[in-house]
Amino acid sequence: MYQNILFEKKDHIAFVTINRPEKLNALNNQTMLELRDVFLKIKTDDDIYAVIVTGAGEKAFVAGADISELNKLDAVSGREFAERGQEIFNLIENLGKPVIAAVNGYALGGGSELAWACHFRIASENAIFGQPEIDLGIIPGYGGTQRLTRLVGKTKAMELILTGRKFTAKEAYEMGAVNKVVPQSELLKEAEELAKTLTSKPQIAVRMAIKAINMAHETTLSDGLHLEATLFGICCGTEDFKEGTSAFLEKRKPAFKNK
Ligand code: COA
Repeated sequence: MYQNILFEKKDHIAFVTINRPEKLNALNNQTMLELRDVFLKIKTDDDIYAVIVTGAGEKAFVAGADISELNKLDAVSGREFAERGQEIFNLIENLGKPVIAAVNGYALGGGSELAWACHFRIASENAIFGQPEIDLGIIPGYGGTQRLTRLVGKTKAMELILTGRKFTAKEAYEMGAVNKVVPQSELLKEAEELAKTLTSKPQIAVRMAIKAINMAHETTLSDGLHLEATLFGICCGTEDFKEGTSAFLEKRKPAFKNK
């Protein structure tokens, strides 16, 4: 169905694999259109509670935007190019269900930015991150200047984006940009374990938590707290809230219905 993406669904988990290994899974136009399409489908599929995104092969997650296409941009098409990518990564960040990036190798440029837009990042020991756009005469355009800065702070983001240097999974972990680093052979198993944990939670509360956390970098503390209280109230109106609290009081395991 897709040329450059593999899509699978199992036990409420969607698996999206970017599949252009001969080009290190670089995001060309076709792949971006397919990514948008698959995430729009996932967003409205009530049977999917969590998503794992990875790259095909053992060498790359995504080695960036396709430089052969980048090379043709001018000022106007360049802006449109960045806006379209931002729109797709915004869709991922605001999907309403957790997305886990299983980073299995090079995550450069748009590949790092894709990972930053996800809610969790698990990296294999051989993963290499970087925002090397500066050496192409551009800056990150799929959200990197904004999301990396929010993840690691201004000092580190300034260094990484202005030097364009690559950094290891270990360094990414130490600066708080990834959740966990595991051997490559265990990467998908680890991502699936996390996805399973997330699918076992009451899904309305999961959705409200993502919304509230995403808003933390978008607004003032008082507006954020106002939103938090509203989303908390929505959770209190769910059957799962009654079930979760009753199960605790009755010393039994809760049986959530996602209602
Ligand atoms: N866009 C287009 N093609 C890319 C690509 C990208 N971002 N990254 C890799 N490729 C292609 C290479 O051109 C090569 O294609 P070819 O076999 O037809 O020549 C193929 O993928 C394999 O890459 P290669 O460079 O031969 O592998 P390597 O192991 O020597 O180096 C990298 C790996 C990731 C270090 C190197 O490919 C690289 O620097 N890629 C660009 C990274 C980048 O700047 N991304 C940001 C873009 S905004």
